[in-house]
Amino acid sequence: MQEKIIILDFGSQTTQLIGRRVRELNTYCEIVPYNKFPYDDNSVIGVILSGSPFSVYDEKAFRIELDRIRGHYPLLGICYGAQFMAYANGGKVEPADSREYGRANLTKVDEANPLLRGIEPGAQVWMSHGDTITELPANFHIIASTAEVPCAAYQIEGEEVWGVQFHPEVYHSECGTKLLENFVAGICGSTQSWSAESFIDSTVAELKQQLGDDKVVLGLSGGVDSSVAAVLLNRAIGKNLTCIFVDHGMLRKNEFRDVLRDYECLGLNVVGVDASAKFFSELAGVTDPETKRKIIGKGFIDVFDEEAHKIKDVKWLAQGTIYPDCIESLSITGTTIKSHHNVGGLPEKMNLKLCEPLRLLFKDEVRAVGRSLGMPEHLIKRHPFPGPGLAVRILGDITAEKVRILQDADDIFIRGLRDWNLYDKVWQAGVILLPVQSVGVMGDERTYERAVALRAVTSTDAMTADWAHLPYEFMAQVSNDIIRNVRGVNRVCYDISSKPPATIEWE
Ligand code: XMP
Repeated sequence: MQEKIIILDFGSQTTQLIGRRVRELNTYCEIVPYNKFPYDDNSVIGVILSGSPFSVYDEKAFRIELDRIRGHYPLLGICYGAQFMAYANGGKVEPADSREYGRANLTKVDEANPLLRGIEPGAQVWMSHGDTITELPANFHIIASTAEVPCAAYQIEGEEVWGVQFHPEVYHSECGTKLLENFVAGICGSTQSWSAESFIDSTVAELKQQLGDDKVVLGLSGGVDSSVAAVLLNRAIGKNLTCIFVDHGMLRKNEFRDVLRDYECLGLNVVGVDASAKFFSELAGVTDPETKRKIIGKGFIDVFDEEAHKIKDVKWLAQGTIYPDCIESLSITGTTIKSHHNVGGLPEKMNLKLCEPLRLLFKDEVRAVGRSLGMPEHLIKRHPFPGPGLAVRILGDITAEKVRILQDADDIFIRGLRDWNLYDKVWQAGVILLPVQSVGVMGDERTYERAVALRAVTSTDAMTADWAHLPYEFMAQVSNDIIRNVRGVNRVCYDISSKPPATIEWE
């Protein structure tokens, strides 16, 4: 049985990061909402309580009965998790002053404590809390302090229960990995055997069992998640998997052809459907961004449904949904901004059972699995690309000519990023065709042509992003190449807006 750590989520921004850190320690973990502890699951080897946007004494604060967890599993509370345990046992938690934010160094460390083994005084930790523990219950013992925070970490005497008021999961906590390793491996006894290979072996076996001889369809987008899901399923059920790759006409230059070839090389049973004429005609004259999205979403479902019906006896729809898409707890504070919409609406319409083999993986793990499956690096490292494609990068109405201009400009930009070894340094890049024309001069001719904006961002999850600080020499080259080679463009701008308040896409 797969041993696991449970992370109880009280709504902190860093809960997912705790999960990633634990996985980086080759230990499987699941993030569950604070009130959904899987009491029946006997593969749990330890529990972590996350931080929270609330104060423990807030009326709205998330509370749990600890009795069924404490004493049953090793327990580590982080920030709110630590404060909650202290508060619930009669300790005092009060507003902190501003010094309890940001970098701090441990001053006193009980190096003999199993949680802190190998961590020395001076180690840097990251503090971020509005409250602080000012009085500990009698049987709680301080095991680490900083200059400003006397109770940086504690243990309950005689119990496998610890609390830390700093955040070991953030990268700035230099000793964070060591501390988490001490907990996960040293205290909980994880065998640290979770890896891409072990995931592939167990998932392929489970898929064989689950799917038997059933037929499965999967919509490919050219993106990493659906591609890895397809290759994994192909390994499990081979030709019983049919992949459908729909060209809505808004893909990048030559992308349909190139990606289809990649898929075929990977041995996938893939049907490529060129439905661009349908989409162009339905999108003609439409300028509103959300209407464009709806037309493309619905058109995609129709085409996919029609193709899938050509295959006899399909029982399952497979999707490349990944863990961040489904962590229910992300919405426990009601602040979810982005909804996932890869092939939204399809399962309902097609009345098929859903198969989501990557639903427990983080993005970097999906990539690792793809690599272990032998997929080429250019497929694995592909930038994210929006489902509606270039349609949301052409501001205003869409015509075949505008798509051609944008594909050509985008191709120069993306090839340039690869040539200059910048592609892997940015999260995502693309070109936006603006609905403006401006005056220029080429040779002796006055021109009155279109302007394009280049967009390149750095990010870790697309929820926030900064514009990429690309070298001027590179931008000069790309600008020249676009204006010289793309008929219809005489001006190139660079978008220097961060998200928030801007978004990555312009529409
Ligand atoms: P924004 O523009 O909201 O984008 O900052 C965040 C990330 O989501 C992608 N994106 C989409 N993906 N369908 C998709 O499948 C869409 O309608 C869509 N809109 C934005 C965007 O490219 C970025 O990676």
